[in-house]
Amino acid sequence: MNLFKLSLLQALLLAVSGGVIATYSSSSSSDNNVWIAPGPTDVRSPCPGLNTLANHGYLPRSGKNISVPMIAEAMLDGFNIVSEALTQAAKFGLLSSFALATMDLDALKLHSLIEHDASLSRGDFALGDNLHFNETIFSSLLNSNPGVDYYNATSAGHVMHDRLAISLATNPNTTNTPKEFAFRTRESSLYLAVMGNPLTGVAPKQFVEIFFREERLPIAEGWKRSNTSITDEALGAIDNIIMANSNWTFTQMCEDLVLGPGLTV
Ligand code: HEM
Repeated sequence: MNLFKLSLLQALLLAVSGGVIATYSSSSSSDNNVWIAPGPTDVRSPCPGLNTLANHGYLPRSGKNISVPMIAEAMLDGFNIVSEALTQAAKFGLLSSFALATMDLDALKLHSLIEHDASLSRGDFALGDNLHFNETIFSSLLNSNPGVDYYNATSAGHVMHDRLAISLATNPNTTNTPKEFAFRTRESSLYLAVMGNPLTGVAPKQFVEIFFREERLPIAEGWKRSNTSITDEALGAIDNIIMANSNWTFTQMCEDLVLGPGLTV
């Protein structure tokens, strides 16, 4: 494995950009952030985090015309996430759109922008549907860490390994470079941090399952927004354990990508 490239990718995901979170008046004041399933004209993404925020009105329930500042404020209000790396991801998301400064959630399925193979709950692009929740795909995560009622960073690493093995065995077009590995790792630390304890990376199975299956905050089941800010530092600590337990190696390498000042991956 090219550790140098990987560390640069980690640096990208952990980068502190010092960005200012713009104020944005979300719909939260008017609808109390109750969960409402998307209506027929509403759109959703391959990301359970953004979809949950839209289903609770932290993001526009339409899923359309979403700006980076809207995402930054919604992440904070809904999950107490203050990750600069995720605002960077949100900026990548803009590339899915022809609009100047907004994106629609469904456009985020654009393969190999952020969307990747070997997802936890979505099929591979080359095999059909890379947008919607898929219970069969989700079974790797669902059945992990047997005998206890929580997932943790060790089990998350094992799930990443299993999901990649399945993709490599069933999808000859699987893309698996350090870029995909970095995104997949961060997505795993995110479900542990937002549904569980961001300092330990331990998350109750019931909460994680509701998050993925229903894209709902499991408030009725006892979930609470983290009191602790979910920072890049906290997510990075969980990332490290996940990576150590995923037994990962690349099957392709990506060319150098210049993504911004000091950001070459
Ligand atoms: C609000 C905080 C966020 C949380 C909790 C979150 C969580 C997750 C998780 C757990 C996955 C993995 C889904 C799977 O493998 O089945 C994922 C995937 C994804 N996320 Fe997010 N995410 C967040 C923010 C973002 C942002 C800011 C963007 C960019 C605008 C984004 C775009 C995506 C995309 C495109 C995927 C699909 C990747 C794939 O599985 O192919 N997410 N996210």
